[in-house]
Amino acid sequence: MHTLHRIAPLRALVADWHRAGLRVALVPTMGNLHRGHLVLVREALARADRVVTSVFVNPLQFGPAEDFDSYPRTLRRDGGLLADAGNHALFAPPETEVYPHGRDDCTMVEVPWLSDQLCGASRPGHFRGVATVVAKLFNMVQPDLAVFGEKDFQQLLVIRRMTADLDLPVEIVGVPTVREPDGLALSSRNAYLTPDERATAPRLHQVLQHAAAALRGGEAPADVERDALRELTAGGLIPDYVSVRRRADLAPPDGPADGALVVLAAARLGAARLIDNLSVDAADVRA
Ligand code: PAJ
Repeated sequence: MHTLHRIAPLRALVADWHRAGLRVALVPTMGNLHRGHLVLVREALARADRVVTSVFVNPLQFGPAEDFDSYPRTLRRDGGLLADAGNHALFAPPETEVYPHGRDDCTMVEVPWLSDQLCGASRPGHFRGVATVVAKLFNMVQPDLAVFGEKDFQQLLVIRRMTADLDLPVEIVGVPTVREPDGLALSSRNAYLTPDERATAPRLHQVLQHAAAALRGGEAPADVERDALRELTAGGLIPDYVSVRRRADLAPPDGPADGALVVLAAARLGAARLIDNLSVDAADVRA
């Protein structure tokens, strides 16, 4: 596996691959890799001839009171996992390579509306930071496709929209959420949970399952959201939001039968902020 820290040699490597007619996939990550990330790498390997995984803890997408400084950085271990998975190149640039003019003085990519909703409402600037770094990574790597997790469903939609709006020639692939056996979505931030909190955490997924079942049963989205918020609080979590949206564009649905839906939630548990979502197929909703 190649390990690169600079843009120029990365570009040269990918240009060689493209000249040889190979299809190149990118898997952007912030490292501290877990099984969920490795499923994205496997999907990339199945769809492309060469896979570049980036590891970069992007300061632009963290709020001032968030965990940028304490975010786990485990590059040596990540490199071992990626090599074992058959990943071809690890791109781990220093901050100066990504933001040579400083993080506060950089051209930004803004995806309106979508970025202000849900997680964007409680994390102002977060999706601007994500869209900016992902657009830059696309230009640094110049991949044919890029793979993202549906666990961060809003992020996936922000990136799809940014890619379409900027006419970037990159196919965006979404991969279903990888979970622990008890339903908890894998996340680097699960490491912040104490053993007691870890036992409580699957409650988020259970509440989303109840909400999805209620939507399939024809319950109104507003009632489903209200009940889910109550259940989360009763279960020991501090909900940030529960919201039923159209899966295609995250617009509020007109009713339970308004196409495919997704129910999204975020909640605090100790030092962790957990997010999760579940989709509900239009065909499954009782009219
Ligand atoms: P990070 O949280 O490291 O996640 C990297 C990718 O892994 C994202 O596409 C995320 O959705 C996916 N992922 C994380 N947990 C997953 C799970 N349990 N199942 C499936 N996929 C999962 O998301 C980011 O980094 C950053 O915002 C980034 C896109 C790299 C931009 O900085």
